[in-house]
Amino acid sequence: TIPVWLDCDPGHDDATAILLAGHTPGLRLLGVSTIGGNQTLAKVTKNALDVLDAIGLSHIDVVAGQPRPLMRSPMLCPEIHGDSGLDGPAGGRLLPRSGRQPRPGKAVNVMFEAIAAAHAELAKEHEARAAGGECGGGTGEAECPRVRLVCTGALTNAALLLALYPEAAQWVELVLMGGAMGVGNTGPVMEFNIQTDPEAANMVFESGVPLTMVPLEVTHTVLATPGVLADIGGAGSSTSDSSITSGKGTCNGTSPQGTTDPAAPAAAPSSSSPDPASAAAAATAATATASLRGAASTAALAAAGGGAAAVAAALAATASSPFRHAIQELLLFFADTYKRVFKFDDPPLHDPVAVAYVIAPQLFECRRMRVDVETCSPLSAGQTVCDMWGQSPLPANANVALSVDVPAFWQLLLQAVARADAV
Ligand code: BDR
Ligand code: CA
Repeated sequence: TIPVWLDCDPGHDDATAILLAGHTPGLRLLGVSTIGGNQTLAKVTKNALDVLDAIGLSHIDVVAGQPRPLMRSPMLCPEIHGDSGLDGPAGGRLLPRSGRQPRPGKAVNVMFEAIAAAHAELAKEHEARAAGGECGGGTGEAECPRVRLVCTGALTNAALLLALYPEAAQWVELVLMGGAMGVGNTGPVMEFNIQTDPEAANMVFESGVPLTMVPLEVTHTVLATPGVLADIGGAGSSTSDSSITSGKGTCNGTSPQGTTDPAAPAAAPSSSSPDPASAAAAATAATATASLRGAASTAALAAAGGGAAAVAAALAATASSPFRHAIQELLLFFADTYKRVFKFDDPPLHDPVAVAYVIAPQLFECRRMRVDVETCSPLSAGQTVCDMWGQSPLPANANVALSVDVPAFWQLLLQAVARADAV
């Protein structure tokens, strides 16, 4: 299994990133750190605890990171994530409040200790394999696998980790959701996570740590359409484990393991129940699922079918459990704000795409290139300047995702939802 540390600012899409990282068999989620971003540090830290408890992972610690960027004022994002950072429809809370407290201490120190311990284990296993002749095969020994640090918020915690503990750059591979090759989302050419703390991002890109950037161009292809929301509901879902090991196979990731999990619980409830009430409910769910799958977008559906309340009702009919319904509602809130702020017909689910890269890099097409972070310009501080055509005299410092196999991504997520639902 791959040890993973997740640094995030939940956040609707961060919440699904936690779910994917915590409920994928090939990954071992070491812990979660938070960073002020989508909402204040206090709010996103509570949200992280709530999410972990709601998905049956109360044993995983959360530690609060930096409340503000290194050199700038905080940028929050209530217009997309609501006042709590994880609002449901009508601004209400969906997840029960956790009774847990974050782990005491500075995130950067807790992250370092967890990463150092996981690295030591990986190194021991690697040595044992090498001694047993499994590595190298006479052509030189393969590198020791790395701990994965997945960042789905501003890079402040990651920058401090690499500055205070430069040895960590030898132990981790960093995968981040952030940046854009072209058009941004919170500025003409700036993406929110990088724009929040450009100086920290610059430190990370300059640190020499192996890193993969999953930019907006990729996450904007991963849309939570009505069909996806119906699948999340679970009724009549076709979440098979067999199709997810295929992919484009052009990435230079170090862990192209498949993620088949024959033990994953079936997502579909029985439709052959002898109980007439259950049979009627199953029929309603099947009708709702079919109509949602056929819909072009949540926005079109709301416009044509009586508004957001009608869409919510159709979705509710597809939900085979309150947990699945809660996820649908979180994504409906996200759909609504994305529609209002960006005129997107369906919301892009950014953050779990970075986790998917750790699980299955073969699903991504990537290119190594030079990426510099603009820190000076009043026009474009936070821009990730991507040298797509290799024109910079500086060496490449990042692996940049260019595309992802979207259906395969949703398979990964739906399987994780099914596992979380079964807890
Ligand atoms: C990023 O910004 C945040 O609002 C999301 O959680 C995601 O990490 C997308 O630009
Ligand atoms: Ca985020």
